[in-house]
Amino acid sequence: MAPTDNQNPTARGQAGHPRNPDWWRQAAVYQIYPRSFADGDGDGIGDFKGVLTKIDYLAALGVDAVWFSPFYPSALVDGGYDVDDYRDIDPLIGTLEEFDQIISQLHSHGIKVIIDIVANHSSDRHRWFHDALAAGAGSAERARYLFRDGLGQDGEEPPNDWQSLFGGPAWTRVTEPDGTPGQWYLHLFTTQQPDWNWANPEVRQDFLTTLRFWGDRGVDGFRVDVAMCLAKDLSEPYPTWADLASGMALVGAGTSPYADGQHPLFDRDELSEIYAQWRDVFDAYSPPLFAVAEAWVAPHRRARYASPKSLGQAFNFDLLTAPWDAAAFREIIGANVDLATQAGSTSTWVLSNHDVVRHASRYAQSGTTGLNYGAGAAPLSVDATARDRGLARAQAATALMLALPGSSYIYQGEELGLPEVSGILADQAQDPWARIENGVEVAGRDGCRVPLPWTQTGPYFGFSANASWLPQPDWFGAYSAAVESADASSTLSFYRAALALRREFQTDEQIEWLELGPEAVAFRRRNGWTCVTNFGTEPLALPAGRIVLRTDGAADRPTIPAATTAWIVP
Ligand code: BGC
Repeated sequence: MAPTDNQNPTARGQAGHPRNPDWWRQAAVYQIYPRSFADGDGDGIGDFKGVLTKIDYLAALGVDAVWFSPFYPSALVDGGYDVDDYRDIDPLIGTLEEFDQIISQLHSHGIKVIIDIVANHSSDRHRWFHDALAAGAGSAERARYLFRDGLGQDGEEPPNDWQSLFGGPAWTRVTEPDGTPGQWYLHLFTTQQPDWNWANPEVRQDFLTTLRFWGDRGVDGFRVDVAMCLAKDLSEPYPTWADLASGMALVGAGTSPYADGQHPLFDRDELSEIYAQWRDVFDAYSPPLFAVAEAWVAPHRRARYASPKSLGQAFNFDLLTAPWDAAAFREIIGANVDLATQAGSTSTWVLSNHDVVRHASRYAQSGTTGLNYGAGAAPLSVDATARDRGLARAQAATALMLALPGSSYIYQGEELGLPEVSGILADQAQDPWARIENGVEVAGRDGCRVPLPWTQTGPYFGFSANASWLPQPDWFGAYSAAVESADASSTLSFYRAALALRREFQTDEQIEWLELGPEAVAFRRRNGWTCVTNFGTEPLALPAGRIVLRTDGAADRPTIPAATTAWIVP
């Protein structure tokens, strides 16, 4: 099939118009983690049949696009980010035909479809990795990955001391076809996720084929996994891991001993060439395919991913890692709106995703703490004060995010106000990041990936007829979509109302700050749409105008209490 215009009968709002090439600039994007969304066949793993039963739910929520985390064939060592075949669907999740139905049904509601591309690494079950093992050292098959000889008399030591980002050595030794211990391959993540060699034109071409495969099927865009990792410099002598780690652009912190773009593993300049080739593929479609980079890089480097010549948009995770603090929010918002404008893109806003503690739980902490991977361990179900504080702040932050210019990314379940599920340790944990450190169990990312509650009671809270791949807690039913749909004061009702109003008031990409004191974050969009958030403890007076949304649900009053956001229009 040749690249075509996506057939989309519904023209709905600015973002929903099928031919609008800018649909993504201010889209509200809903992330589906397929294994945890809805299980249609009762095997305990969410699937496409389940998604097909929830299309009306997504349409009623009022999002502009859905981003699917990986659904490819996978051993699920890293939740599907270990891909066996980039152009197929895992049989546990569904079929290509079912995916076609999802695309067409979402499109019929004016909702775009974005999929995850995992290009830094495949899984060790990928056909090309099997070929590499079978072909032996020095072969063209091995040159698609990053194989090196080991050190020591028999090559029994890894080539260097580099560490995987999930812990443990970044090198794994293979057994050669003749049965002897042989070379080592590099993997920035788990042993089962060998890194591709992006200096190899064959690898580059194969990914272009994959992008076209999905573009031709009607997908509207891509979320590019660890976009800053693909290019690497493995020239010798190797730097030590201590040297590399001190310059890790991954968290945007630390002082790098490497010049910009020269770190051997992250954010290298030659990534621009790779993404320019991707851009040529994107631009062959009408409207062009969209892409957003997951790029954990220093803010001044983000434009390299967000520019229209590159992927087009890049995540900033600054709000997600920020404390509950007005000054921090103001600074982050100002800086990112400017950075995005300079890059020729729009900013992205994220409060939760499948990798971090849900924001209703992060904000439950009494101080102004930012991202805290251990936070899922706090038993919110029994600490009502913390739970209420977390939810109030979460809704206030969400309303603030939705009023900002740019794209808002919403993670499944946050529209229900779901807290992180605590206590998924050792025997039930599925995430490779869950670990024991100095004798203490550290929760991984499972707590934000627990299958969604759809009904108050019944098997697996309506997620599945028979099973759930992660345990759901007893209190989940109170957060179910069924309960919240019937309650005008629920988090779900708030998300629906806010998304509908956002669509109604959406305007150009400028903001004007309002000075309402140190504990307020207040800004106005060009058409007068005003957003005020109270980060302090005392009531905050609102500017004049018609209040169209208050996250405390209170009647029309001239002030808002702590941890509340209001939207006001002229
Ligand atoms: C994804 C993670 C995944 C990692 C390796 C990340 O950025 O969001 O879920 O574990 O990439 O693919």
